[in-house]
Amino acid sequence: MSASGQADLVIVANRLPVDRVTDDDGNASWRRSPGGLVSALEPVLRQNDGAWIGWPGGTDDELEPFVEDGMSLVPVHLSASEVEEFYEGFSNGTLWPLYHDVVAKPEFHREWWDAYVVVNERFATKAASVAAEGAMVWVHDYQLQLVPQMLRELRPDLRIGFYLHIPFPPGELFQQLPWRRQILQGLLGADVVGFQLAGGAGNFIRLVRQRVGHKTHRDLVYLPDERTVRAAAYPISIDTEGFEELARSESVAARAAEIREALGNPATLFLGIDRLDYTKGIYARLRAYSELVRDGDLDVEDSVFVQVATPSRERVEQYILIREEIEQLVGQVNGDLGEIGKPVISYLHSSYPKEEMAALYRAADVMVVTPFRDGMNLVAKEYVACRFDGDGALVLSEFAGAANELRQAWLVNPYDINGMKQALVDAHRSTDRERRKRMKAMRRTVVEHDVKAWADEFLRELSQVRESHGKTVRPARRS
Ligand code: F6P
Repeated sequence: MSASGQADLVIVANRLPVDRVTDDDGNASWRRSPGGLVSALEPVLRQNDGAWIGWPGGTDDELEPFVEDGMSLVPVHLSASEVEEFYEGFSNGTLWPLYHDVVAKPEFHREWWDAYVVVNERFATKAASVAAEGAMVWVHDYQLQLVPQMLRELRPDLRIGFYLHIPFPPGELFQQLPWRRQILQGLLGADVVGFQLAGGAGNFIRLVRQRVGHKTHRDLVYLPDERTVRAAAYPISIDTEGFEELARSESVAARAAEIREALGNPATLFLGIDRLDYTKGIYARLRAYSELVRDGDLDVEDSVFVQVATPSRERVEQYILIREEIEQLVGQVNGDLGEIGKPVISYLHSSYPKEEMAALYRAADVMVVTPFRDGMNLVAKEYVACRFDGDGALVLSEFAGAANELRQAWLVNPYDINGMKQALVDAHRSTDRERRKRMKAMRRTVVEHDVKAWADEFLRELSQVRESHGKTVRPARRS
């Protein structure tokens, strides 16, 4: 951010890219969150006097803007009732299940919607006060879909981009939403609306035509005020180089060996790493695996399934229920089929730093990613990035956005338990040659298209709209 307190590039996301940590003496400080989005955007932010607007988590006191790790961060405060109604309620109890194929039943409550409007207004007002004349503002994700239009009303001089990290559903589902028109209009405040897949962009364009009545042609929407909005796919990726570098480090290699040793050096280590979310298909996958053990296709003596389930949205009812179901299944399976020192499933309800994740990826023979629906699924890409040795098998759901790119994975329908069992066995029994061939092709994909390429492409598109207005954002140099 410049001395005037105004930024030429503003990122607006539900969360700030830092987490609050408290040491043993009770001193609080900030630690950069591990996400790839931050590593991709940080250099661009630095070069463009950028600022990042977001919720710092919690409901503590209102914080003043601050600089951390060279990034200007602008906190947006949420009250306890807003966390309940805007974040846990409308964002994660209504939109999240609705946008993920109604895997769980979305709840529609008018008070939740009201809180969503109020909080979106707060983010838009903050962005309007931070953005310099003609700046580019990039709004992220389903929690903030009204921000583009609200911001445009406050600041018509800005170039506004929006990116949806999760799937955008087909009309048949989206139309259940009582506030469908407001959401579409909110998004149309942007100049560029980005989606993970072309299918999501197509759903959006169709809905805009049918529900709002605007003219559309291919990926363009023509608005009555002469403005056009581009809606297209920009599949997100990861910091491929960063992950590979980490995986190559001696400490990660040593930790990977230690993990295998602790598990009794199994011949095959199956691995799942997910946020504990009902969209991820953890229960179905563990059932498929345990049936293979029960049927004698796999043996606890020489294979184990490590499932990491990272705590997430723990006060939302559907998350409480899925946790209970998974944990009951794990207990039952281990009780029925495990042996002393040889669990069928080694289950960890915890979040781990990147180094530990890289060690797990290196240690795993078969990575199992089987969501019922997922915008992209970065774990699948991270696994591939960490397998610089060219080995390792990926079993991947057809319904993860990543399946569009990682075609050489063992693709599965997560609703088909027998099909999943077959894919697990096939990956487990695959020849070295087969695995390497598939991994080589997938590695090419994640190396060629990393998160930096994704961010550059989106920002390039945004800087080209309405060329007569505003400033051009310089893409960051690769270091
Ligand atoms: O995948 C969508 C997403 O909102 C990510 O952007 C985020 O990292 C993840 O879900 C966790 O969500 P939350 O902010 O609710 O913990």
